[in-house]
Amino acid sequence: MANGTKQITTSDIRKKKEAGIPITMMTAYDFPSAKLVEEAGVDMILVGDSLGMVVLGYDSTIPVTMEDMVHHTKAVTRAAKRAFVVADLPFLSYHGTVEEGVKNAGRLMQEGLAKAVKMEGGQELAPLVTRCVQAGIPVVGHIGLTPQSVHQLGGYKVQGRDLEQAQRLLEDALALQAAGIFAIVLECVPEEVTGMIAKKLDIPVIGIGAGVTCDGQVLVFHDVVGYASSITPKFVKRYADIGETIREAVAGYAQDVEKRSFPAPEHVFRASEETIKQLYGEGVATK
Ligand code: KIV
Repeated sequence: MANGTKQITTSDIRKKKEAGIPITMMTAYDFPSAKLVEEAGVDMILVGDSLGMVVLGYDSTIPVTMEDMVHHTKAVTRAAKRAFVVADLPFLSYHGTVEEGVKNAGRLMQEGLAKAVKMEGGQELAPLVTRCVQAGIPVVGHIGLTPQSVHQLGGYKVQGRDLEQAQRLLEDALALQAAGIFAIVLECVPEEVTGMIAKKLDIPVIGIGAGVTCDGQVLVFHDVVGYASSITPKFVKRYADIGETIREAVAGYAQDVEKRSFPAPEHVFRASEETIKQLYGEGVATK
């Protein structure tokens, strides 16, 4: 890059798996969160469609549109100079024709400037993955608990608990790897199943609620920093409570305004003595 920042690439991410170095990934949805995540040194930023829930206030990711994803991806990529930015394809944007899926994936890269796209689903996505990769679009898979299918799955439940489900996850992961994905997210899966899948795959497996036996971890920014996220799933570790810090700061501001102790003299601009005299006449207080 012109400013000397070394951008993380798909090959850096693959090398981390080969070297046994855990890959760090976190979501971000706007310029300030992406800037903070990048400054913290995280390898990969995911513009997750979880933005529907943590930023837009929906109760699932289903209402999120391509326009929402492009808009938020643009903001994130303006901040991320080093981290590898992956953007989610939202609900139904890749379930029509392969051409439509490639076109939408291309929009996240061409308009949003993402470096890769992520899509939820198993081996049925193989033809789309192959076409995207042929078109130069790196793809991350996402299996296990796939939130866009929450109503079909009957809720946000752990997946792959029995042998049949675990084998199905492995088959999906292998088929997607053969189709060309360069990494895969495994969500809400027993740790033992994760370990088996991570061992059988050459590509990095990034877990969320999938234990420590994979090649990296991803969490939602708002959950990690405690930013107005009401539910804390078992697999989340909260490292801060910025929601409380923000609430206290805003309440302090509101109290100061009500008491007229804000703005204080140091926050106020002053007119010249001459102008004050002309405005108010001699001896008239400015307050
Ligand atoms: O949308 C999202 O944030 C995700 C993560 C949960 C992996 O897909």
